[in-house]
This record gives sequence, structure tokens and C-alpha cells, in this order.
Amino acid sequence: MYFQPVKNFDSLPSTNTRLREMLGEDPALPGGLVVCATSQTQGRGRFERKWITPAGQCLTFSAMVRMNVPAEYLLCLPLVTGVAVVETLKQLHIAAKLKWPNDVLVNGKKICGILCENVSLSGDAPPAAIVGVGLNVNLPVEIAAEIDQPATSMLIETSQKYCIPGLFNVLLEELDDRVAAWAKDGFAAVRQAWLANTDDMGMEAEVRGVGEIFPGTITGLGRLGQLIVTDHEGQPREVLEGDVKVTRK
Ligand code: BTN
Repeated sequence: MYFQPVKNFDSLPSTNTRLREMLGEDPALPGGLVVCATSQTQGRGRFERKWITPAGQCLTFSAMVRMNVPAEYLLCLPLVTGVAVVETLKQLHIAAKLKWPNDVLVNGKKICGILCENVSLSGDAPPAAIVGVGLNVNLPVEIAAEIDQPATSMLIETSQKYCIPGLFNVLLEELDDRVAAWAKDGFAAVRQAWLANTDDMGMEAEVRGVGEIFPGTITGLGRLGQLIVTDHEGQPREVLEGDVKVTRK
């Protein structure tokens, strides 16, 4: 297993932040280290959005990927991680879907968020990527309702409570397999699996990218996992970063 050891904490501000601090303290830290917390007080999403992690209700961890791979591979790590989450949920008969770049949805509501952050280090040290995952496991409906976007949990979807450590083992194994394949072949290793688990291809969407907002149709994925959205002039445009809101199914 690449993803070990796992360091468990009761409460942390943010597992991503903790892993980044550990790397700052010891730049030689090997890849594979995983930090897991029962709750977070300052959980973060993309664009510094707040991520709620009430004690004992979510699977919350960050894993360090530090491999000698081409830098361009890093762009698709959220997609690789998303596939691992969807495959894990499928094993439990929960039909989850991927939304580019980093969301996992069930019945159109967010069940899992992924935050990948790259850390550059001086010298010849290989770059490190921190892969943060927040999966709503036993989150009750009244807490999900407080989240500022439609949210759900495994409990809400199935009326069953889940053992978080058991689920964590399954997800880590899945992530291990997917990351090993990615290290070899980059995005090509998960392209088919990603496309097979999204409903968004061919949909109308509004793209809010860096410095641009435009409507278009989601038409594919690029070589590195970029989203291809064809604008109203018929021009396929590559989206590397941003939010994509499906406006019509
Ligand atoms: C998003 O949806 O924008 C991403 C949410 C990512 C949340 C996880 S929880 C574990 C890790 N620690 C954080 O502070 N964020 C990520």
C-alpha cells in the first residue's frame, strides 16, 4: 500500500493544512502519509469556501502524493480521486455521479468534496500534492440542510449508518489502485471510468473560469483531464479551473 501510515487526530483545523505544515517541518517527508480527523474546525473547500465537518459524521482525510510523475499529471488528481470515491460508493450500492472537477453527487446533491493542493518545495525534491477528501457519511438531514448548497450523506441516501474506519479502508485501497495507475499513465488511466460515471456530457452549462464566464455545451475531456466546453460560436474551449454549473439536462 502506498497510502500509509495513517495518522489519526480527534480534531484539527484542516487535514490539508496539517499535512502542509508537516511538510514544511520536514521537506523530506515521504509520499503516502495520510492524516485523518474526526472533526475539522476550519475545513476548506475550493476557492477558500467553508467545509463543514461535524464530529464523527464524515470521513475526512488528506493523503500526500509524492511521486516522480510529469508535472502535467497533477491537474487530474481530483478526477482520479473522484473515481476512487464513486467506485467505493458503488460497492455499497450507492449510485454516485462525478461533476467536474472535484464533486461527487448523489441524486444531484453533493456527498463528497475533494481539494487537491500542490506544494512546491525548493531544490530537487519531488513536488508534493495533498489530496483532501471530505465524504458525508453519517451526516443527518438537519445538518445537511445547513450547508449552503444541496448536500446529502450516505445516511440520508440509504437510511443506514456506516462504520467510518471500515469505509476508510475500502476507499484507501481504491485510491491506492487508482493512483498507481495514474502514476504510470496519467489521466488516460481513469478517463473511461470518469466518463462512465458522469451524467454531464452533452449538457448545457455555464462556466465560471478564471477571468471568464461563458455558456456552452459540455463536450468532452482533454488529454490531461481539462473540461472541454463548446461555446455558442461552436468553439471548443478548454477549462482548467473553475466552477461549472449545469443549466439544462
Ligand atoms: C470542495 O468541495 O470544494 C472541496 C472540499 C474538500 C474538503 C476536504 S475535508 C478534508 C480536507 N481538509 C480540508 O480542509 N478540506 C479537504
